[in-house]
Amino acid sequence: MPRTVELAPSILSANFANLAAHAKQALEGGGTLLHVDIMDGHFVPNLTIGPPVVASLRKALPDTIFDCHLMIESPDEFIPPFAEAGATWISVHQEACIHLDRVLHHIADHGCKAGVVLNPATPVETLSEVLELVHHVLVMSINPGFGGQEFIRYSLKKMQQLVRIREERGLDFHIEVDGGVALDTVADIVRAGADLLVAGNAVFGRGDAKQNARELLDAARDTTLTAPETITMANDLGFRPHRVPTR
Ligand code: DX5
Ligand code: ZN
Repeated sequence: MPRTVELAPSILSANFANLAAHAKQALEGGGTLLHVDIMDGHFVPNLTIGPPVVASLRKALPDTIFDCHLMIESPDEFIPPFAEAGATWISVHQEACIHLDRVLHHIADHGCKAGVVLNPATPVETLSEVLELVHHVLVMSINPGFGGQEFIRYSLKKMQQLVRIREERGLDFHIEVDGGVALDTVADIVRAGADLLVAGNAVFGRGDAKQNARELLDAARDTTLTAPETITMANDLGFRPHRVPTR
């Protein structure tokens, strides 16, 4: 049985003057949820949107799953307003939560699916005690803050590790990946075990969002159809230098 892989277009790279229409194009291309990046200029060196924009988008897209990725300090304080604005899933960074167990419960108490996010430098082991509580683990494959960055290959090891842990412990969380997902990286990402693919620049960066989404999803699904014995993971997953933008 091939695994199901889903595409989550990230509106960070969409046309904000025409946000709902642009997002709809990506959904028509096969995106099954919308990834919504919330940044506060403190936790990450960039600013994006707040609850009012999520609420407006919710009116335009009443049935779409909004996968809200909070890249903010004190995310606990903002769970109620984002839940009320229409978030369906809310993920918080492990690095931003001193009381991660409490925050994950808080998200679920507000009727949203709880996710936890790992920055590239944060090991999977830091989630060991909370994996039972999460609907998805989001592996950052870039340093959060900006779209259009280069994919960090060592993040593939973390996806493989999460697959192993999930199997060993009989859990069922999704493994989501965010950053640098594109036609040239998607096969390795799917082979590593990710099933939710966030893509901003590759979908909205240029050309037709519907077609871009379709092509990316096709490439991902083709990979899942490859017989497992022919899947060989690129063996070079060690550290490689990569550019890191600041502002
Ligand atoms: C960046 C965001 C991402 C971003 C990914 O901090 O979390 O969701 O949109 O962008 P791409 O797909 O362009 O690398
Ligand atoms: Zn994101």
